[in-house]
Amino acid sequence: MSRTRFPEDFVWGTSTSAYQVEGANGEDGRGPSIWDSFSDSGAACDHYHRYPDDVRLMKDLGVGAYRFSVSWPRVLPEGAGRVNPAGLDFYDKLVDELLDAGIKPYVTLYHWDLPQALEERGGWPERDTAYRFADYAQVVHDRLGDRVGTWLTLNEPWVAAFIGHAAGIHAPGRKSAADAFTAAHHMLLGHGLAARALRAAGAAEVGVALNLAPVLTPGQVTGSGKRLSEEDAEAVDRIDQLMHGQFLEPMLRGRYPERLLEIVDRTAGLGHVRDGDLEIIAQPIDLLGVNYYAPCVVQAQPGEPADLAYPGSENILFTTVPTAVTAMGWAIVPSALTLLLGRLSRDYPDLNLMITENGADFADTVTGDGVHDADRVSFIEEHLRALLTAVEQGAKVRGYLVWSLLDCHEWADGYQRRFGLVHVDFGTQRRIMKDSALWYRDVIKRGGLGD
Ligand code: NOJ
Repeated sequence: MSRTRFPEDFVWGTSTSAYQVEGANGEDGRGPSIWDSFSDSGAACDHYHRYPDDVRLMKDLGVGAYRFSVSWPRVLPEGAGRVNPAGLDFYDKLVDELLDAGIKPYVTLYHWDLPQALEERGGWPERDTAYRFADYAQVVHDRLGDRVGTWLTLNEPWVAAFIGHAAGIHAPGRKSAADAFTAAHHMLLGHGLAARALRAAGAAEVGVALNLAPVLTPGQVTGSGKRLSEEDAEAVDRIDQLMHGQFLEPMLRGRYPERLLEIVDRTAGLGHVRDGDLEIIAQPIDLLGVNYYAPCVVQAQPGEPADLAYPGSENILFTTVPTAVTAMGWAIVPSALTLLLGRLSRDYPDLNLMITENGADFADTVTGDGVHDADRVSFIEEHLRALLTAVEQGAKVRGYLVWSLLDCHEWADGYQRRFGLVHVDFGTQRRIMKDSALWYRDVIKRGGLGD
């Protein structure tokens, strides 16, 4: 394998999620989700109707895999009980279309669009939601399991729990630390229950997609070589446990980090963590999906350390560094991806890894002859090189999925963000392959980067 070549069987693909691309929120019996009233996505990319065109675009790109999510309220409009056959029909047709195009479906079961009916019964802070999630996983598997081999239970539970329940920036918009910690535990429990159900139903592969990133101080990012102060080292460790240890350790080792337990105990109590939960959560997984965009850059603040960690929370400064940033303001640090994959491989040596999301928001300009997004091309190229370095150092990384196939609805930020390889005009729904798409097509054809 030369420096710029990837393993023969490396999987190249793209990712999306239901609420961000489908539209058709009121169609064919779909029930409301917690996002509908929070930040109406309207027609989004109208993927619900245009999926054959979008699959054609992917075929043209030459991708081998497409990761999409199933909308829980499309399948179970009340979150539990009554199944909506029309909802399942959509995913059935999408899977067939993908397989006809030679593209392997990677199905995410929960990408944040909780049925509103379940929110009204308490949402993720309510234990029952975990059991309803496993039932839903079973329903989807019953319909698609003969053609879908790889199942990802949750997408970025940290974001769903903390940005949704503590920061209040995402749906359901709660601002309670206790709710965030109980939601996180119940998502983990839901993951374990669903993984067990999927496995019992004969699923070939079960995994999860987490937002993971090295936690670094500004000095570590810029390489200014300053020794970490004790306070900074403490802040780094705390954020790492809150953002990563909280999910990786129970799923992969059946335990919560000690330090995290203290924080949860102080904040939410531990009554929601019942005997036997951790065994359920630690179901063996076949694949860890890594969503990586930028390192978490933190700096200790004076005063009592906070029990919560998210940008804007007290006492932890999620700070910025003088590096290049994307339009989201996220630091562009490809070497942090190498660090991350190395660490995951050392900590969990048997684990198969896959980049299930990586990509960048830049303000694109449509010109008479296309969208010349050189910044996105370099972002992806540099991250692929960083990934390759990790592979050469022994990380088992099976593939890489660009976020995203299409410009789409970016949650609390709406349509102003553009992460797509394909430009979408939200007025006309016209799609234009950006330069990054044409470039990615060449990478896939070549099986790697140019020298
Ligand atoms: C992570 C999420 O999974 C996805 O939904 C989002 O659009 C991207 N990151 C970009 O923020």
